[in-house]
Amino acid sequence: MTGSLEGKAVIVTGASSGIGRAIAVELGKAGAELWLVGRNQSELDATAQMIGDAGGPDAHTAPMDLRERGPLAALVEKVAGQHPHLFALINNAGVMYPEPILSGSVDRWQAMLDINVMAMLEGCKSAVEAMRAHAKPGHLINVGSVQARFEVPGVYGISKQAVEAIGVSLREELEQDDIRVCTIIPGGFETQLARGFRQEELAHVASSFESRGVAFGGDGAHRLVSDPQHIANIVRYVLEQPIDINFQEILIRPPVSTKAS
Ligand SMILES: NC(=O)c1ccc[n+]([C@@H]2O[C@H](COP(=O)([O-])OP(=O)(O)OC[C@H]3O[C@@H](n4cnc5c(N)ncnc54)[C@H](OP(=O)(O)O)[C@@H]3O)[C@@H](O)[C@H]2O)c1
Repeated sequence: MTGSLEGKAVIVTGASSGIGRAIAVELGKAGAELWLVGRNQSELDATAQMIGDAGGPDAHTAPMDLRERGPLAALVEKVAGQHPHLFALINNAGVMYPEPILSGSVDRWQAMLDINVMAMLEGCKSAVEAMRAHAKPGHLINVGSVQARFEVPGVYGISKQAVEAIGVSLREELEQDDIRVCTIIPGGFETQLARGFRQEELAHVASSFESRGVAFGGDGAHRLVSDPQHIANIVRYVLEQPIDINFQEILIRPPVSTKAS
């Protein structure tokens, strides 16, 4: 197939579900060769199948747990060693436990910081080293959250404040490179992100929908939680632009917002 991203290697974390899956399929449609990261092998396989069904090149699955340091950097090195052009790393994987700090736990804080922040830092550093070695244009796309800007961000929002700070810092550190850095800042999108929520947190989200006259999961819910395809379209757009422009931050939200979206 021919496409705007043909001949380019792209790594997408969190590609087994939600926003990452939508991004991976969209970039596959544009001809990119994808490496798909997540823990769930069968869901990664399903994403690879969707890319194939959409006419994209064969995609590779790379199951790993991003709470651990080492596997993502090793994957970046491996991809760069076997493909002539590592074009983009999409740091999308994330977990959200929206509890107040005082009812949280060390395990849940640690997971949010390890996956949302540390894996991103590790991925960015290793991708920059690989991109510099290839001496070709490249992109780092990092997924933050509008919760970073909420008055009460909690640990999840704090982890996403770090994502924005990483983007700002790297952009300046990469001024002399043909490597652009973009932070995508989503509001509410329909994904599996609530899978880690406690019952009371789900009830809080449902009541915030009801405060807008919308049944959680019912008719009209798409006005509060949008289709991840919109984010995939934005990421493809960013990757298709000339390398002399940097989309530093893109905030994308459904038409109607609550404290949860
Ligand atoms: N949906 C929203 O409304 C929204 C809003 C703002 C920001 N975001 C951000 O968007 C990003 C994508 O989330 P999503 O909404 O698409 O949620 P999702 O459907 O739950 O997808 C999360 C992805 O992250 C991966 N992941 C989680 N823990 C992992 C781990 N320990 N190791 C490796 N991969 C792991 C999951 O893969 P496995 O389960 O296979 O490990 C999955 O592919 C996240 O950074 C999230 O914070 C989402």
